[in-house]
Amino acid sequence: MQQMWTDLDSYIDSHLIPEDERLDKVMHNTVEHGLSNHLAVAPNQGMLLQMLIQMNKCKRVLEIGTFAAYSTIWLARALPKDGYLLTIEGRESHAQVAQQNIAEANMNTHIDLKVGFAADVLKSLPSDTPAFDFIFIDADKGSYPEYLELSLNHAHSGTIIVLDNVIRAGDIINPDNQKPSIVGIRQTFEALKAHPKLLSCTALQTVGSKGHDGFAIAIVK
Ligand code: DHB
Ligand code: MG
Repeated sequence: MQQMWTDLDSYIDSHLIPEDERLDKVMHNTVEHGLSNHLAVAPNQGMLLQMLIQMNKCKRVLEIGTFAAYSTIWLARALPKDGYLLTIEGRESHAQVAQQNIAEANMNTHIDLKVGFAADVLKSLPSDTPAFDFIFIDADKGSYPEYLELSLNHAHSGTIIVLDNVIRAGDIINPDNQKPSIVGIRQTFEALKAHPKLLSCTALQTVGSKGHDGFAIAIVK
């Protein structure tokens, strides 16, 4: 099935995803530094993130898990000139590639890349940091429950939270799989279930060039 999913993603992309030199450069530079683009969102998924930001006229975006900043560029593309994007990366070597990619992409919105364990970075933000309108959680899956709670501390009514990789090719319902990353996703579903701070929440399975995975999407009450 994987080949058909990849071919269909190519078909979708060739019709609906405009060529963008900045994104091509990011992908190229990422591979040159020995990182795998497989961990980045697919182009049609990047477009979905962009559209969620546009639909809701978001101005302040938080990304937890920069990796090489491919998704960061998609998020930033959706922002107006007076927008602001904070992206947090835990691994210094990845952050270096990300910083290069962000500089090369020459986006016209303010992008801050902070390096450190995202939970620590979020806890150390100044108390007067305005809430974020859109939050994309895409870092170490074992920490998703903590990232969700900390995100909620930096959200307002109507903030949209998107969590990447919540299906993991079905591993989340395989009881034999007790990897910390999978346990973290299961705990996240438990936390999302009837969360008192959330208005609504769903999860969608996705198939495509990145295999079988999924997004969870929540709106803050
Ligand atoms: C992995 C992480 C991701 O965020 C992703 O989108 C795909 C894969 C991983 O760690 O395997
Ligand atoms: Mg991901």
